[in-house]
Amino acid sequence: MLSKKIETALNKQIRIEAESSQIYLSMASWSETKGFSGIASFMYDHADEERMHMLKIVKYVNERGGHAIISDLVAPPVSFDSPKKMFETVLNHEIFVSKSINDLVDITFSEKDYASHNFLQWYVAEQIEEEATARTIIDKINLIGDTKSGFYMFDKDIMTMFPSDQE
Ligand code: FEO
Repeated sequence: MLSKKIETALNKQIRIEAESSQIYLSMASWSETKGFSGIASFMYDHADEERMHMLKIVKYVNERGGHAIISDLVAPPVSFDSPKKMFETVLNHEIFVSKSINDLVDITFSEKDYASHNFLQWYVAEQIEEEATARTIIDKINLIGDTKSGFYMFDKDIMTMFPSDQE
């Protein structure tokens, strides 16, 4: 059985993962309208992954005798200045998510809830990957600079760089 404190903290994380999914969906849509079809497809995949992150917690909370709450969400931004700015937003967002997961892990220690602690280890590992992916993409964008032909190649590359094996 989950303690009230853990249940509340996990419900907060459900909301953060759902909002992450919306943010990446908005990025996918913006990229698609700008003609960046590779980036759009990467972002659509990313939005799906975040929904899966959310669902995993929903199921876990209910399985442990809590009640997963599906709440309203903060609307994501609708446009982004450039792909580079957009990926910087991704990185900053993932750093924020990592901090939130770390805070959650702290709470599992204080509540002596080792099952939840164990459950969250998947998210700890996932966040290392998510931050690394965003950093690698930003490095690539910095390498190609602001040239149109560079971006054309990058947009083609992005799907092969990170096959959607990331859960
Ligand atoms: Fe589920 Fe990208 O954090």
